[in-house]
Amino acid sequence: MKIARLTLSDRASAGIYEDLSGPEIERIISEAGFGTPQWIRLVMPDDRDDIENLLRKLSDEDQCDLILTTGGTGPSRRDNTPEATKAVIDRELPGFGEIMRMKSFQAVPTAILSRSTAGTRGRSLIVNLPGKPKAIGECLPMLIPAIIEALRHLKD
Ligand code: MTE
Repeated sequence: MKIARLTLSDRASAGIYEDLSGPEIERIISEAGFGTPQWIRLVMPDDRDDIENLLRKLSDEDQCDLILTTGGTGPSRRDNTPEATKAVIDRELPGFGEIMRMKSFQAVPTAILSRSTAGTRGRSLIVNLPGKPKAIGECLPMLIPAIIEALRHLKD
């Protein structure tokens, strides 16, 4: 199993603050029974074209089973993650974003500001998560059963 975690943040990539979100993804996945995956760990700015190219590479060349992005899903002008994701996926899986917004909204009214989505490219599953470590903790655990099932389907 090869898993990429991709932190999308101008400030984290510039070293203005430490990336705590990527490690949080890794912690939750590691506790979720995915065995000992091979990790690709990346932090990069919110440039849409670069994100698209990287997602294509992670899927087509690196053959990642799972690509988890964090950040860049909000309404700011530099938030480009959902657009980049939609540009590269073959099929959208809108339920991931829908359930994150719906469940999170009950506790955090600003959760509906996240435009996160998910989808498949080839045999890779791409899932957008919001940027804050706390938000990852609120969203990623409830997605695990659907992620496992989607990976099973993608393997045929
Ligand atoms: N979802 C959860 N569960 N918890 C949160 O604190 N923050 C929201 C939202 N989703 C939040 C959340 C906020 S304030 C924003 S702006 C959006 O995620 C987008 O965040 P991003 O641009 O860092 O991806």
